[in-house]
Amino acid sequence: MKILITGSNGLLGQKLVYLLKTKTNVECIATARGENRINDKQGYIFETLDLTNHENVVSVIIKHQPDCIIHTAAMTNVDECELKPNECRLNNITATANIVDACKDLNTHLIYISTDFVFDGTAGPYSEEDTPNPLSIYAKSKLEAEKIVSESGHPFSILRTMIVYGITDDVQRSNIILWTKNSLEQEKDIRVISDQLRGPTLAEDLALACYEAANRKATGIYHVSGREVISIIDIAYKVADYFGLDKKYIHPVSTAELNQPAKRPLKTGFVITKAEHDLDYHPRSIDEGIRIVNEQMNAK
Ligand SMILES: NC(=O)c1ccc[n+]([C@@H]2O[C@H](COP(=O)([O-])OP(=O)(O)OC[C@H]3O[C@@H](n4cnc5c(N)ncnc54)[C@H](OP(=O)(O)O)[C@@H]3O)[C@@H](O)[C@H]2O)c1
Repeated sequence: MKILITGSNGLLGQKLVYLLKTKTNVECIATARGENRINDKQGYIFETLDLTNHENVVSVIIKHQPDCIIHTAAMTNVDECELKPNECRLNNITATANIVDACKDLNTHLIYISTDFVFDGTAGPYSEEDTPNPLSIYAKSKLEAEKIVSESGHPFSILRTMIVYGITDDVQRSNIILWTKNSLEQEKDIRVISDQLRGPTLAEDLALACYEAANRKATGIYHVSGREVISIIDIAYKVADYFGLDKKYIHPVSTAELNQPAKRPLKTGFVITKAEHDLDYHPRSIDEGIRIVNEQMNAK
């Protein structure tokens, strides 16, 4: 099975490349805007691919004719999307339409990665049957891209996920675990949102779900996240506990006080029964996830 990954320099993209290169039944084609930033360059093909460039998308997809495309690439900074709506549209909606268009003569299974932000956060945890009501430009763009994929006529899976954590090969990229740990170690005060609830998702768990969706040719929408729904500040407290760091530097802040450019849903979380059943999805607990990320940071 030939699987093409978009956004292979991103957090999920990198985890997918590392996973798929271990699978003997998979030929992996990693694609990303610009240079390949994954340290290990062996065991897969790499192509430079800017998804906003229609010609580039058609030529790479026609060249490789993948059985499956796992489309992870997106403009993911929610506030930046709010401030630059045209750029958001281009990278999240036009890019997805370009992929669908390039596949028109192929029978490619499309796997699209979407977000809990398609919901408004008034009635979480959400199941696949719940009605989306996106609050931000980013969330609207992701929902519109879902529609492009689901109406493409291709076999498709949409995997919605939420706060994905883990480390990538590019050290400059932070995450909630690293940020909390580093700040507390340096005795730096941090303000952490106390009234938003999420089910944090270990990037490796999400990558496994993507592989299973491809391998089993699963179709439809799947909710893929961690099982525990907790506040963002509780994640920070868990990090402090794990590393034995002083919690006094963690200060709660409400969504209203923080007043970020993009609106966020307050309480999401997912019902993950469908993914557990159809994708053999068994997410690690947050404590286990922190332990795994710590091991990976130590190995760097
Ligand atoms: N991370 C989360 O908490 C979270 C939560 C819910 C849903 N999701 C969804 O999950 C997916 C993966 O997220 P992630 O955390 O892996 O995101 P990420 O680390 O921000 O990676 C996204 C990647 O997309 C690439 N990209 C953006 N525009 C592109 C374009 N026009 N052509 C080619 N590549 C492009 C970026 O390239 P550069 O590196 O060159 O900028 C980046 O490497 C996304 O679709 C996101 O919406 C993520």
